[in-house]
Amino acid sequence: MRLAKYLARAGVASRRRAEEMIREGRVRVNGLTVNVPQADVENNDTITVNGKILNGPEQKIYILLHKPPGYISTVQDTHNRPTVLDLVKDLDTRLYPVGRLDADTSGVLIMTNDGDLSHRLTHPSYEIKKKYLARVSGIPGPKALENLRTGLLINGTVTAPAVVKVVNSSGKKNYADLEITIIEGKKRQVKKMCKAINHPVVRLHRTEFATLKCASLPVGEYRFLTDQEIKELYRLVKL
Ligand code: URA
Repeated sequence: MRLAKYLARAGVASRRRAEEMIREGRVRVNGLTVNVPQADVENNDTITVNGKILNGPEQKIYILLHKPPGYISTVQDTHNRPTVLDLVKDLDTRLYPVGRLDADTSGVLIMTNDGDLSHRLTHPSYEIKKKYLARVSGIPGPKALENLRTGLLINGTVTAPAVVKVVNSSGKKNYADLEITIIEGKKRQVKKMCKAINHPVVRLHRTEFATLKCASLPVGEYRFLTDQEIKELYRLVKL
């Protein structure tokens, strides 16, 4: 197995982060520093990270968190803000969020120590569906909705087609609730798309990631994925 993959499987870090750690010279194989993430390792090799011996691939954990607003989904925060890891502290394993949600976004967040699966679920080529409920300011007309559906120029690239439904609108309060399904996952994508049609997002909730929903889970709580759900994620990313 490739060294970076081994580290990701062992729950050390995501595959990308593991590659960085290897290049930084923090990983040794049988006592020798190896700084090539693609190097092949065998199960009986002794691998250390920062001098600590790994005990081989650990048990894989997959959870679905109903993320509340107010938590950041990066693992470390320099400003000491609450992170999604604080919500899964009782699990004695290092888990990583699959992709990210903005601090003020709520909804489905998958967390796992399965680096391979995580890498593929966030890779644009697998076109994993993400469904959002976005409350936007003002009521977008047919032209604006059409632009949202067909693609908008954001930071020099055109967004992939999106499925957009107006699920609620209030002329009096001047807002609309849009259900937006996208297959990309660029940073702040939904907010940027809505801003581009001049209807900025005032509240954002992710209702679905792949086939997983959080509607029946209280805000701030998590549950383990079922074997069937894990299998389905594997199938979606051809693992
Ligand atoms: N798009 C956004 O703008 N923010 C999120 O948190 C997720 C998708």
